[in-house]
This record gives sequence, C-alpha cells and structure tokens, in this order.
Amino acid sequence: MNPNISQIRKDFPILSTIVNEKQLVYLDNAATSQKPIQVINKLTDYYKNTNSNVHRGVHTLSGKATDEFEDVRLKVAKFINAPNYKQMNPIIWTRNTTESINIISMTWANDNLEENDEIVVTAMEHHSNLIPWQRLCKRKKAKLKIFPINNNQELDLKYLDEYINSNTKLVSIVHSSNSMGTINPIKTLIKKAKSVNAKVLIDGAQSVPHMPVDVTDLDCDFLVFSAHKMLGPTGLGILYVKKDILQNLEPHFLGGEMVLDVSYESATWNDIPMKFEAGTPNIADVIAFGSAIDYLNDIGMSKIREHESELTAFALNILDENKYLKNNSTLFGPKNILNRSGVLTFHSDIAHPHDLGTLLDNEGIAVRTGHHCTMPLMKSLGVPATLRASFYIYNTEEEITKFFECYSKSLRFFDNVR
Ligand SMILES: Cc1ncc(COP(=O)(O)O)c(C=O)c1O
Repeated sequence: MNPNISQIRKDFPILSTIVNEKQLVYLDNAATSQKPIQVINKLTDYYKNTNSNVHRGVHTLSGKATDEFEDVRLKVAKFINAPNYKQMNPIIWTRNTTESINIISMTWANDNLEENDEIVVTAMEHHSNLIPWQRLCKRKKAKLKIFPINNNQELDLKYLDEYINSNTKLVSIVHSSNSMGTINPIKTLIKKAKSVNAKVLIDGAQSVPHMPVDVTDLDCDFLVFSAHKMLGPTGLGILYVKKDILQNLEPHFLGGEMVLDVSYESATWNDIPMKFEAGTPNIADVIAFGSAIDYLNDIGMSKIREHESELTAFALNILDENKYLKNNSTLFGPKNILNRSGVLTFHSDIAHPHDLGTLLDNEGIAVRTGHHCTMPLMKSLGVPATLRASFYIYNTEEEITKFFECYSKSLRFFDNVR
C-alpha cells in the first residue's frame, strides 16, 4: 500500500505555513527536512517531564532519561542493521555528518595513514568529505585521489582498478549526491576496496533519510549521517563504526563521562560507546530523534524511496514535455531513474540561480541555490551555482507542478528583460 501523503502532511505543522502570502511549497529537503508533530512533541515532552542528565544520576529522572537515550541508540543501530548492536553498540552521537567525518579523519585515519598511502574520494563530495582528507593527506604526505565522473554525472567505473589499488588506505564516498541526485554504486566500490584491504567510509547524509541502508549487507567500515535531514532535530549526527575498528579506536574528545578512572597523572577510558562521548550529550535531541526513526519505520524506507522515485519520474516527465525548459535549462545527474534520488539540480544561462530562487520564494516555493558545498564539482560542471529542488515523503505532484510552472515563469521573466 502506498503511504497516505495527505495524512502524512497533516503531521507536519510547518507545511500549512503561508510564505509571502502563498502556501509554502518546501523543496529544500536536502538541506534539512521538516519535523513531524511527533518529534516536536517528544522534544517538549522531554523538557517538560524527563529533563535530567544521563548516565550519572541515581535519581529516577536521570534513570528515565538514560533509558530513553540508550533506547534510541539501539533503535538507530537496528535502523541501519548494525551487527552485534546489543553486545557493543556501534553508534556514536556527534553534532552532524561533518563532525562524524572529522572525528574519523583525526582518529582512525590519523593513526593509520602513512606517507604515500592513498585516500580516494569522488568528484562529487560535499566539502565535509573532502576538506578533512585534504588536510590529513597534506600532513601525512599521503595522496588524495579524486574518482572521476562521466558526462552523465555518474562515477566512471572504468577507473575502478586505477583509483582503488594496493596503495589505497581509505575510500570515503558519498552514497547519494546532494548536488546532482546521483546514487553511487557503493557496493561495487566497497567490494573493490575490500579486495585491496582498504577501509570504506560512506557519507550517508543524503541516502539514510531516503532509502534502506544496511551496513551489514554493505560491509562498510564507517557510516555517517545527520538526524536533521531525516525528520529529526538539528545538532545531532551519527557515526557508525564497524566492530573491529571500534574496539581499537582512540577517543577524540576527552573529559567527563568518557572515563573509568582518573588520577592527576592519567585516565582510563569508559566502555564503548561512552568513551567517545565526552561531556553532556545532546540528550533531548537524541530522544526526539527516536520519534523520527519510529515515524520513518512506520512508513517504511522502501516506501519512502518508492514515493520519491515516483515524484522524480513525474518531474522528469514534466521537464521532457516542456520545450521551453528543455531548451533553456540544464538538469544535472543521471538519466536513469534507478540511479537518482529526489534531488533535481538545474542551471540556466538566462539567470543566476539566486535570482530565480528569489522569484520562486515570492511564490512560496523554498528551493536551494548556490554551490551546495560542492564548489570543486560546480567548477568541473562549468557553472557557478545551481538551483536545487529536493523532495521528501510529504511532497506531492501538485507541488512539483507548481514548482515547474513558477520556474518556467521566472526564467521567461529574465529572458524577456535580457
Ligand atoms: C552529502 C552530504 N554530506 C555531508 C553533509 C553535511 O551534513 P551536516 O551539515 O549535517 O554536517 C551534507 C549536508 O548537506 C550532505 O548533503
């Protein structure tokens, strides 16, 4: 059964907001998703009824907060099908995807990378999965290799053997591109990386919220993503680390809660995962994130992917039938719907995306314009910026129709004043 979108929309109070005297059409989901009332209520309920610090109190509220906090960790481990989650939970709370990647670059990668080793990223990485590796490779005199893309904006797999070889220490790749909607064949890359004993980090910021992602099936070593892009609160990131690495991973932040015993001279570390979470964690947002996971599970991640694929097919069809748009606007990303997410990125020579985005905003339509934190990619595509519309479970065909009507109207406006 398909998800009941009109019912789902009722759970998102912000979707009935009026923006510039128009009904909001929210198509900036790749930046951050909206939050259902269940998540908002959980957050306020926590502060009203449970607020307390975790792991350290003997009183009832602290115990309740700790139980709820740790239950969500289990929930997230199950959500990505992490193995052995009961014996040693491999989920570490961070602030966001960016922090998760930085932590790995400063701990595991810093400890294991040697001169002339190679790290492979792709040409479509978010800055978060590029700059930490640039700095680390410079420091270690290692090589950062950029896996190329083809004219279809997909990874060019003919370079697989050349780029991932016996020098490769880490392959750190985005699963689903935030700026072109390309879904990468990560299984192929992981298999190749394993064959040369390299580790793999998957940037799941744009995939985990939109499709089933199973770390056991993928056999990746690290998976990183952000709660705010999947109906959860801002300020909460997830770092999954595979057991064999997790057992020997050094903590990055030191201080309260992550220690077992401390003297004036030294300290020993707490159990995993607490040894990686120094200081008071983001308790309220973790607990509210549990409601986001419940919400996604109730719909089903396959259904979410299906809905977004249908919206994407609908959008591509409109584009195909609109001669004016076809001639005056370029859509980036794969032609094959199976290889693309609900992220559509456009460029037109007629007007700068910021100007188009402003006209769309006048119509109540929220899209993203800019380089989407992928400046090197924009340069290689030969554009300064793009206009991005990105879908989620609550978007409808009517909204997409309205987006294209307003996008065409805005382009024609600038076309006429040129
Ligand atoms: C693919 C990808 N990676 C990383 C990030 C960084 O996420 P955050 O800002 O939550 O750290 C984003 C955010 O848009 C993204 O789309």
